[in-house]
Amino acid sequence: MARIDYNRVAADYARGRGLTEDGLAAWRAALQPHLDQLDLPVVDIGSGTGQFAALFPRWFGVEVVGVEPSEEMRAEAIAHTRDRRVTYLGAEAEHLPLADGSCGAAWLSTVIHHIPNLEAAAREVRRVVVPGGPVLIRSAFPGRTDRITLFQFFPEAAGVVETFPSIDQVERDFGAAGFRLEEFEPVPQVSAGSLIEFRERVALRADTTLRAMPDDAFAAGLARLDGAISGGQESGPVVDYLDLVVLR
Ligand SMILES: C[S@@+](CC[C@H](N)C(=O)[O-])C[C@H]1O[C@@H](n2cnc3c(N)ncnc32)[C@H](O)[C@@H]1O
Repeated sequence: MARIDYNRVAADYARGRGLTEDGLAAWRAALQPHLDQLDLPVVDIGSGTGQFAALFPRWFGVEVVGVEPSEEMRAEAIAHTRDRRVTYLGAEAEHLPLADGSCGAAWLSTVIHHIPNLEAAAREVRRVVVPGGPVLIRSAFPGRTDRITLFQFFPEAAGVVETFPSIDQVERDFGAAGFRLEEFEPVPQVSAGSLIEFRERVALRADTTLRAMPDDAFAAGLARLDGAISGGQESGPVVDYLDLVVLR
């Protein structure tokens, strides 16, 4: 069970959480060494509205299978994906409807905190990803939220991240399934073109951490953002650092 009902968020997700062109370019560069020209498809677990799945064929010349339990998120993904090399399946990470060794890599973007049994999911990933194939995890992690703008304005939301799986837990759970942590690196992504644009996106509240906090704390955070905007703070792009964890 996800922490929020994605069927209700689906319509606003792309506007509220979609990355800018520059933000996507940063992830393209970070993923290139791991995904370029794989012979087998990439499984995108918790593929959501397909913001990455739809681009991977063009970026890396690969096929993609998106696995996504929310019917509404899947519908958005199907509506916005033009590439025939991408297919979407309705399922959860703990029960992947894929054959053993049928994928060249696994991609999990801002999803591990929704998976109730990460160890079971790791076992499934081990089963479907061919030996030697990478598992690539994009996430905010406990203790590593300093360079995420949202949390400067909504400190309560940073508290929610402290309940997410840590890098140590990922290493343990995927380690138990037979993977080894290879590296992790913060990736600087442009999340919005300006603080004003950032405020418009945040107001949609299409984010687990914002949905989990009380309404009055959310309103107080928006007021802090308004204060920063009217005070002329930082009119340039909003850059955030999420981590890329690589296991193999
Ligand atoms: C924050 S969204 C991320 C979507 C996409 N990966 C992205 O980066 O834009 C999290 C997604 O994980 C999905 N999800 C929730 N629980 C899941 C599970 N147990 N297995 C796979 N996906 C899950 C949700 O339905 C939602 O679409």
